[in-house]
Amino acid sequence: MEKIVINGGIPLNGDIEISGMKNAAVAEIFACLLVEEKVVLENIPDILDVDVSLQILESIGVKVNKLGKGVIEIDSCDASATGASEELTGKMRASYYLLGAELARWGVAKVGLPGGCNLGPRPIDQHIKAFESLGADIKVSENCIHGVAPRGLTGANIYFDVVTVGATMNLMIAAVKSKGITVIENAAREPHIVDLANFLNTCGADIRGAGTDTIRIHGVEKLHGCTYTIVPDMIEAGTFMIAAAATGGRVRVSNVIPKHLDSITAKLEEMGVEVIEEDDAVIVSGKDRIKHVNIKTLPYPGFPTDMQPQFCVLLCLASGKSRLTEGVWDERFRYVEELRRMGARITVDDNTALIEGGVKLKPAKVRAVDLRAGAAMVIAALAIKGRSEIEDIVYIERGYDDIVSKLKSVGADIRKVTVKEDF
Ligand code: EPU
Repeated sequence: MEKIVINGGIPLNGDIEISGMKNAAVAEIFACLLVEEKVVLENIPDILDVDVSLQILESIGVKVNKLGKGVIEIDSCDASATGASEELTGKMRASYYLLGAELARWGVAKVGLPGGCNLGPRPIDQHIKAFESLGADIKVSENCIHGVAPRGLTGANIYFDVVTVGATMNLMIAAVKSKGITVIENAAREPHIVDLANFLNTCGADIRGAGTDTIRIHGVEKLHGCTYTIVPDMIEAGTFMIAAAATGGRVRVSNVIPKHLDSITAKLEEMGVEVIEEDDAVIVSGKDRIKHVNIKTLPYPGFPTDMQPQFCVLLCLASGKSRLTEGVWDERFRYVEELRRMGARITVDDNTALIEGGVKLKPAKVRAVDLRAGAAMVIAALAIKGRSEIEDIVYIERGYDDIVSKLKSVGADIRKVTVKEDF
């Protein structure tokens, strides 16, 4: 077990390069099952969720070859729907993409229930509804999901009851090789949806409209291999933007698509933080005084839920009272208890947190209760003068590529320490 130790209070200064997007990478890795030729994916982040995704594929016979930093070759020619290890699929959320990919390739799928961060109930009813519309018969048992489509999948019109990233991407994966046309309405519009469509289209798929709420997919018989570069991670970028603002530093966050950061940039500017956009970078300069704001998380292009805990830290440092409303997940405020250990004054009422800014925070030992909550703890520890410790960092490593080295490179006093376990 490891923890992160930070001596905070140092303004960050310098350049941080952003890695490929976690939530695009994990979908595209599973989508490689549809391509019976070699695929090379570039800009793959070095994170635990990618490792687990690759292990899941290897467990069903896919050959994975690391060609260099951030570059992998995936060859699924000899794979078979033998049933991936339930222990592995239970380690992450995105293992649900295996269901769409196996149904599309073999017409049968057997996948253990997905795991992932505890953000409240995480139903998969929309995924199941979508597969059933394409002609699959889905059964969910205590710890496994079985799917069969003896006559293969056939295109259909699907209107999602909620805007869901996972079900939109899973349906895209399932529909790419199905017979006829699939139309997805009320589709999610996140940049990773567009990236998955771009990847599959590069392999020969025919997907139009990704990035709007209506996606049309003309099924094709076969996909071919390609080399594809994954889009930069807007949430990793946003996290470092907040770290710069919270420490009163100046950081150039590079290898980003500034357009994807619009909602984050807008809120920072509203708070009085300076953000300068370049072609593929943003420069964030913190200010001595930052203003309180109200935020509500929404599906893209709204303010991202995956930036909610990090912004909460910044709102603790701002002057005045802020209201932070969570519009996607039922239980995304579990980290508030950890921030209170640092002296934060936050009250949570249902899906809204009221944050009293300007309260002096103190260093503390805290836990990463999930991935983005962990990132928030890192930001708080960087901003508060003195030594803080963050435990359970395995959550952070699921989604941040070498966060310790990246922060060190901009002047943070941060290190990873091995914790001796008591038996
Ligand atoms: N929902 C349903 N039924 C479904 C699917 C979703 O009711 O079948 C609901 C959820 O309960 C939630 C809302 O729809 O209230 C949105 O869920 P969505 O399906 O969009 O979430 P997800 O696909 O499970 C992905 C990311 C999350 C991110 C959300 C929202 C991956 C692997 N995970 O989750 O990322 O918070 O979209 O943007 O792509 C993270 O990276 O830290 C993370 C949690």
